[in-house]
Amino acid sequence: MKTEVIRADADGIRRGAKLIRAGEVVGMPTETVYGLAANALDENAVKKIFAAKGRPADNPLIVHIASEKELEGLVTRVPEMARALMRAYWPGPMTLIMPKTEAIPAIVTAGGDTVGIRMPESEAARALIRESGCPIAAPSANTSGKPSPTTAQHVLSDMNGKIPLILDAGACGVGVESTVIDTTGEEPVVLRPGAITPEMIRRTLGSVEVDEHVMKPLAEGEAVRSPGMKYRHYAPSARLTLFEGEHEQVKAEMCARYDAALKAGGKPAILGNPQEDYGGRLVFALGHDGNAEDAAVRIFACLRELDDAGITAAFCETIPLRGMGLAVMNRLGRAAGFNIEKAGENT
Ligand code: TXA
Ligand code: MG
Repeated sequence: MKTEVIRADADGIRRGAKLIRAGEVVGMPTETVYGLAANALDENAVKKIFAAKGRPADNPLIVHIASEKELEGLVTRVPEMARALMRAYWPGPMTLIMPKTEAIPAIVTAGGDTVGIRMPESEAARALIRESGCPIAAPSANTSGKPSPTTAQHVLSDMNGKIPLILDAGACGVGVESTVIDTTGEEPVVLRPGAITPEMIRRTLGSVEVDEHVMKPLAEGEAVRSPGMKYRHYAPSARLTLFEGEHEQVKAEMCARYDAALKAGGKPAILGNPQEDYGGRLVFALGHDGNAEDAAVRIFACLRELDDAGITAAFCETIPLRGMGLAVMNRLGRAAGFNIEKAGENT
């Protein structure tokens, strides 16, 4: 199959929608990351998503809608907290887990009785949903286990030959996937952190829980509330080590470890702020002088660049877990296998 990349203008949206109506899979831009879009109500179309990604069948997909009235056929009830969150943050980078109806094929939710629904802020994404005339199932458009794609080129590099069309709307503005919130229980629970932060949710609802696995690895055989937590995502071939501690000490430690890796014959790199002086060592810009929003925009591209450059060991400073920092540290943590060291302890 030949994979075409075209602009997500009116003509592009029309062509994409036609393919989706015909049961095909299309690369779709959103404000968070690019998605692999298919008709959520068409079991065969959704099968093609799993095949293109190589995604395990037990990991459910998010269903994307363009207006709140589409919710009616998809969920059996809308919990009060979900209503309040929608009012505050839809359209936007937020997915709400709710009880599903029979209309959604089991393959979408991996057999589960809940479904994640999101109304994206991206105009192109909503236009594609409207023009297709159906809710759209879309996971991130990466091959399973690779970093999520934030440009059409990333999608092409993973999906070339596997899907007919990618709609290009430029680089994603947010850079990390939507916040996933379970609204089916007593308390709202953040299962995956994103741009709609726990602080924002607390302001809207008065309370919020963050699932403990957001910042810690799974113990063997441990049950999870969201299947996505089980998989080792975003794993670069380089071994990534994170350092926390006082900034100058972290820098010194990263430089020392870099030099040791180089001496051992490896190809090391530092992920950080290129404005800072790292004595000529190779730095991949994470835009990361504490600004979590900038780091979010760059993180997945950065992880792909490490692989493309054949880096064997990468070193990165942690950022505070407040606001968007939690979303960035969740992705960095997983890419590093939660390999976080305290700078200064071994010196
Ligand atoms: O920003 C996003 O959410 C992007 C764009 C394309 O919209 N999509 C995305 O989809 O990140 P995906 O499939 O890569 O991640 C969906 C996550 C997975 O971790 C999955 O386990 C979780 O959401 N999830 C989906 N449905 C769920 C459900 N019913 N219960 C618990 N977790 C669910
Ligand atoms: Mg994904």
